[in-house]
Amino acid sequence: MDTSIFDHFHAVGVIPVLEIDSAAHAVPTAEALSAGGLPIAEVTLRTEAGLDSIRNIARRLPDVLVGAGTVINLKQAQAARDAGAQFLVSPGMAEDVVIWAVKNQIPVLAGAVTPTEIMRGLNLGLTLLKFFPSETLGGLKAIKAISDPFPQVRFIPTGGIRLDNLAEYLRMEKVHAAGGSWMAKRAMIAEGRFEEIQRGAEEASEIVKLRNPIF
Ligand code: 3PG
Repeated sequence: MDTSIFDHFHAVGVIPVLEIDSAAHAVPTAEALSAGGLPIAEVTLRTEAGLDSIRNIARRLPDVLVGAGTVINLKQAQAARDAGAQFLVSPGMAEDVVIWAVKNQIPVLAGAVTPTEIMRGLNLGLTLLKFFPSETLGGLKAIKAISDPFPQVRFIPTGGIRLDNLAEYLRMEKVHAAGGSWMAKRAMIAEGRFEEIQRGAEEASEIVKLRNPIF
């Protein structure tokens, strides 16, 4: 698997999780995020426009790392790859998706929140896992407790992360990067509030810089 994309996740620090209702909004959203210091877009396949949004970003914005989120089956994984997704994110441990992604050298971030799920991920070759929904499951306290037996694992928590708890997440050693939708909520995208999205990305990247001063 090409894990250099995982290095980008760490360098950028925050992965915007996007729900896009019209593919026409994909490029301006990704441009706003990128201008604000977050050149990454996890476009979820929860909307009809998800795949076309990935395609538009992949074609038009080569400097933005675009991936597919909410990938829950193999068919979606293949369609996302064909649309130009450079990485895949799944809320849970979909083993067929992970096996296929590893075999096809596509970085995959799969969700694991119990020791059993973490062990499944490790046995499939993953050491970077998604922790979702983080705040509901106990946030940093839960990540710390579950990390103790698995020192080789790092997490990308999502779910309930916002500007006001981002710094605390990023300070934790086990947290590789954080994901979330707060800077580009579905309504903000649908209403074309791209300046606001850029400002939200800027605020988030200011916090990342405190952790990653060399990037
Ligand atoms: C995800 O898919 O990772 C979440 O929907 C992001 O959670 P948030 O909307 O609470 O940021």
